[in-house]
Amino acid sequence: MKESIKQELTLKVKGKISFEEPLKKHTSFQVGGAAEVFIIPQDVADLQQLMGYLNKTGINQTVIGNGTNLLISDQGISGVVIKLVGGIDEIEIKGQRLIAGGGASLPVVAKQAAEAGLSGLEFASGLPATVGGATVMNAGLKSLNDMSRIIDKVRVVSSTGKLQVFDSDECSFGYRQSRFQRDDSIIVGVEMELKPKDKEEIEAKMKELITNRKENQPLKVPNAGCIFKNPVSDSAGRLIDEAGGKGMQIGGAEVSDKHANFIINKGNATAQDILDLIIEVENLVKEKYGLELEREVQILSG
Ligand code: EPU
Repeated sequence: MKESIKQELTLKVKGKISFEEPLKKHTSFQVGGAAEVFIIPQDVADLQQLMGYLNKTGINQTVIGNGTNLLISDQGISGVVIKLVGGIDEIEIKGQRLIAGGGASLPVVAKQAAEAGLSGLEFASGLPATVGGATVMNAGLKSLNDMSRIIDKVRVVSSTGKLQVFDSDECSFGYRQSRFQRDDSIIVGVEMELKPKDKEEIEAKMKELITNRKENQPLKVPNAGCIFKNPVSDSAGRLIDEAGGKGMQIGGAEVSDKHANFIINKGNATAQDILDLIIEVENLVKEKYGLELEREVQILSG
């Protein structure tokens, strides 16, 4: 990117801007190269202006949430990487409606809903995503709920900087899917409709889910949650485990022996180690069951 454009961006952006920002600081895997330019917009208007400018100048933009479901290549990302955490992350409760910024922390949103005696977000306790990231992925827990079932409206800033609002039924939600995976718009706000329920009951459910995760998942070591989506009526973790995948290792990346749908960074993994291991696990399951696992983790490069 030309120096003159970097200077122009520095003048235009009201939020935070840095150059050659190490993205390993922004992902739970703790791997990945640098962002050529890294921006945390101050508010929605700041983001709108930025998107308009990037669109006009043809500069590549990439959005990251909390980086908890993300594998960023060792070569890093050229152009501008945008993060909403620390900028567009307000939370507001009005009656049964909860309105949150795209960068708001999902567990914090779930906790505030519980405190207000509002049910629907129990599944999100211990799911370390942003509201925007969880909406793009339609994150959820099969047995309980997912984002699509509590979302009423989604506000986005389009690639040209326009503010748009989508009703839930316009979002093409499916299992870990939404229309927002296929376009360049950025989710800046989500309006949810929750149901009143006894606060103690909500909190007990949330506690149970967190305890379950702590017992069954390798949460103390760098990871990116489940690597693969579950095949219909089965668990990718169970399949990988049964195929003998636990403990498979490439460089510093290892298939967790606590839960086989997790890959852990043992401290010195590169993004390439992790990607190679993902491919090896895919091949193992393909050979054993003739089944193609679908990736849940988002892989970013370029
Ligand atoms: N199992 C094994 N070996 C393993 C892992 C699991 O045999 O290594 C068995 C378990 O014993 C259990 C079954 O497989 O009988 C299901 O396991 P689990 O309850 O852990 O559920 P899962 O389907 O593997 C899903 C979500 C997780 C979520 C848990 C909560 C997906 C892809 N996975 O996992 O979500 O935390 O339920 O129970 O939807 C994520 O989205 O990042 C994630 C980790």
